Amino acid sequence: MARNVIESPSRALSEYVILPGYTGKGTGPETVSMSAPLVAYREGEEPRIRLKRSLMSAAMQAVTGPALAIALAQQGGLGVIYCSQPIDAQAGMVRDVKRFKGGFVVPEVFSPESRIYEVIERRNRRGYSTFPVTEDGTPGGRLLGLVTKNDFDDEYHREKTVRERMIPAEGLYTVRELEVGGDLRAADRMLRESHHGSLIVVDDEGRLRYMVFKKDIRQHMDNPHEMVDGKKRYMVGAAFNTRDFTERVPEVMREEPDVLFTDTSQGFTKYVAEAVRYVKDHYDVPVIGGNVVTKEGFEFLAGLGVDGVKVGMGPGSICITIEQTGVGRGQGTAIGEVCRARDDFRSKNSRYVPVIADGGVVVAKDITVAYALGADAVMMGRYFVGCDESNSPIVSSRRQRRSVKLYWGEGSEKARAWREGRYNQSDFPEGVVSEVDLAGPLKEHMMETLYKVEGGMRKAGCMSIGELHEKAVLQVHSMLSVREAGAHDVAVVSDDDNPGDRK
Ligand code: IMP
Repeated sequence: MARNVIESPSRALSEYVILPGYTGKGTGPETVSMSAPLVAYREGEEPRIRLKRSLMSAAMQAVTGPALAIALAQQGGLGVIYCSQPIDAQAGMVRDVKRFKGGFVVPEVFSPESRIYEVIERRNRRGYSTFPVTEDGTPGGRLLGLVTKNDFDDEYHREKTVRERMIPAEGLYTVRELEVGGDLRAADRMLRESHHGSLIVVDDEGRLRYMVFKKDIRQHMDNPHEMVDGKKRYMVGAAFNTRDFTERVPEVMREEPDVLFTDTSQGFTKYVAEAVRYVKDHYDVPVIGGNVVTKEGFEFLAGLGVDGVKVGMGPGSICITIEQTGVGRGQGTAIGEVCRARDDFRSKNSRYVPVIADGGVVVAKDITVAYALGADAVMMGRYFVGCDESNSPIVSSRRQRRSVKLYWGEGSEKARAWREGRYNQSDFPEGVVSEVDLAGPLKEHMMETLYKVEGGMRKAGCMSIGELHEKAVLQVHSMLSVREAGAHDVAVVSDDDNPGDRK
């Protein structure tokens, strides 16, 4: 006989509804806050990281590369760069995010002896078309010139050196670091007066410091929720696994990610304990542990001193772990139990350990319900993968005549191929490859969702995630209530008459 058999079912997120609460006068969407702590803090202290909008993107090959992490940080959330790739590639992705300094960019550079075909190759790979040239080819070297897409012909100049085609420094519009300071508004004023599309900032010795691009300034000023670190660079997380952490973490940490995440569906293990201890012993960086779905799992991770706990085993949209192994839990029940354990831990230890709901959070109402059940943040893959900025390319659907993005699980055969036999792998897949609809630019996709989440919070009478934790009342609803909740007993006419998606 098992140690315990729980006869009440484990619940999915979509089995819960939030009951309405009292909504006072003068409350509008702008008064609702989706901010929450991401990392642990002692009672009376401020957490080291507080998300302005508590959404995170999953550490998955298909989802979080630099473009998505930057776009999400601009909107107040956090992207987590996946570790199912070579170590230098992951470190490079973290570096790419950290280059963006809320409008000030540490650009990629060339040395004067580089060849134009190298510039072409980098331009095609990265999508940038403006590269400063420094004496020694490093980003902090003495500025010699600038090479842009207008300075060479892809065919005729391929073999030329960069020195032969660049605009020399004397002909460039540069400003001293002291003149701009870290002030984007000052940079914006200078750019407006200059007729140029970008500003090159150098120090007193003529060494390159930053570039400021007109288009980035606009972007920055339009995004008051940006998540930036003490040096005004965008925040980003990085995942690490329990196998190569002694090699991976040092190299990735050189790029200064803001927070690390263990990357395993079963976080209640001796391997996770070893990996977390290693990071805690060597680095001053917050570590989020996971994944767990039980009180015991939470207590184990909190006892290791992790700075946050990720919840979810089995609920992911591309996940077949439970189907394959019989192990896991409904995400609603898992979040509820772990958050109760978190609250008990706080009462006993005066330390608040944030909980992140990871997997099965797909549409706006899932986010609100996850917060109400106690989660401080949600991590999503399916939700972000359709965005223009996701790491998945647009392809033609194999099933219908239209464009889609591929979404594959980290445990799918496709994701596991990168390891090239280097690691022992389980003998069976725990994830699938799928197609999802395109969702357009992240900002617009997210805005629509935020309106719905904020609308839900107001109906529940709660103006913040913290208030949801204190005041929300949830109820399990039956399959018939789920049916009743959608349009029913009518034939819905057409998409034109019912604009807006249900996400
Ligand atoms: P989604 O947002 O419902 O698509 O779930 C994303 C989450 O699923 C990720 O953050 C992981 O925790 C989990 N996940 C990713 N790949 C796999 C897989 O192949 N099998 C099981 N779970 C996965």
